[in-house]
Amino acid sequence: MQLNTNFNEALSTDLFHLIRETSSDLGLKTYIVGGFVRDHILGRNKLKTDLDFVTIGSGIELAKALKRRLSNTGKLSVFKTYGTAMIKYDGMDLEFVGARKESYSAQSRKPAVEEGTLEDDQNRRDFTINALAVSLNRDDFGKLIDPFNGLEDLKRKCIRTPLDPVITYSDDPLRMLRAIRFASQLNFEIDRNSLQAIAKENKRMAIISRERVVDELNKILAVDTPSKGFLLLDEVGLLEDILPELTNLKGIEEVEGQTHKDNFYHTLEVVDNIAKTTSNLWLRWSALLHDIGKAPTKKFSKKVGWTFHSHEFVGAKMVYELFKRLKMPLNEKMKFVQKMVFMSSRPIVLAQDIVTDSAVRRLIFDAGDYVDDLLTLCEADITTKNPKRFERYHKNFHLVRKKIDEVEARDHIRNFQPPISGEMIMNKFGLSPCKEVGMIKEKIKESILEGDIPNEFEAAYSLMIKEGIALGLKMIEE
Ligand code: CTP
Repeated sequence: MQLNTNFNEALSTDLFHLIRETSSDLGLKTYIVGGFVRDHILGRNKLKTDLDFVTIGSGIELAKALKRRLSNTGKLSVFKTYGTAMIKYDGMDLEFVGARKESYSAQSRKPAVEEGTLEDDQNRRDFTINALAVSLNRDDFGKLIDPFNGLEDLKRKCIRTPLDPVITYSDDPLRMLRAIRFASQLNFEIDRNSLQAIAKENKRMAIISRERVVDELNKILAVDTPSKGFLLLDEVGLLEDILPELTNLKGIEEVEGQTHKDNFYHTLEVVDNIAKTTSNLWLRWSALLHDIGKAPTKKFSKKVGWTFHSHEFVGAKMVYELFKRLKMPLNEKMKFVQKMVFMSSRPIVLAQDIVTDSAVRRLIFDAGDYVDDLLTLCEADITTKNPKRFERYHKNFHLVRKKIDEVEARDHIRNFQPPISGEMIMNKFGLSPCKEVGMIKEKIKESILEGDIPNEFEAAYSLMIKEGIALGLKMIEE
């Protein structure tokens, strides 16, 4: 892999020159560290908008002086308790901290902080690839400072901690998830000792706030091949604590020679499939959770073999519990995931059969605006290893999509509004709200979905009169 260790161009902006001059005038030494350095070397810097600076001395003092020189163009926030300061400038978050030694207690991620050298500061960082620093000082501006062979680890594509991994992970257990997230994002491997330390320390994850955990899960889900991260989470024993709904899907059972597929590995395949077609995070969550109802609904019967009756319904209810437990938003995003899980078996039934207009109309009616997302999920759900079946399902999905466009252009079922309102029915037959009104409305809706009448006022009006008479109602003369 081609690594870029030349920082001349990247540091040639006015901002870096101003930091150099400000730091020098204050008699401080300042370095840029962490993600900016790592991503620059890897050629990923276009992604980076948060920059981390370490100063030997007070980061807050440097930030304040820099802010004065930037006059009105930056917004400064100072976090005295943490000894950090942040300037929002030109779409970037510039974070300043004084170099420090840290020591942690067993119950908390909040360290006791002492001033330290640059090397102390690099030592306390999570991974060697994140501990690389570049000088912003006059005498050696742009020089890479790499005491732990981080560059070598970038070459070897390896995630390794600067200190004994048991200490690094125990100090801040969030780093266990970060290791897996970086391995997923960068397609790196985690050093064996690190993996063992994570497996040993995994229960310490309990002290991490669920919001931070979800943040990392979202980042793992956002990569090109999310299965890598979930397999690692499983390997080190974190997944069963964070998402037991997934680990409960593991395993293939056999009764009387009949087996079912391993729904855990199937799920990961579906997530990788969907990652190829959409970057919608909530659709990716839907793929991850689409089968969770299968664990509690699994049954074996002699007649039909393995069944998972109503797993979509049960799964949708589990989505709510899972979101609540992980403190994820219980808003329309959750409802979207619930709807996807609830409807996740519908289109495949269509794709296995002859695709009729009425089945397509019902699908559009039930899925509403989400019909395209639902089809994306269901196509990703095709993991059959039988090439003939694979081809047939995909062909049929193509047909379903085509039919959806045709039927929708003609019948306007999406966000269905009945062509005859309850009020019209009541006026026509002189009724107050009663069950007959509902029956007539239902008959009209069903007839449209079945294709017995078009989704138009005239046809629906005639049907209303016919139904009303059949129910023994009398029309009011106009
Ligand atoms: N860091 C750490 N332990 C943590 C979080 C952060 O040691 N739990 C250090 C690492 O040196 C990291 C730096 O703080 O590089 C900045 O952290 P952050 O902004 O979270 O990560 P980046 O490395 O910048 O990467 P990204 O923005 O891609 O997440």
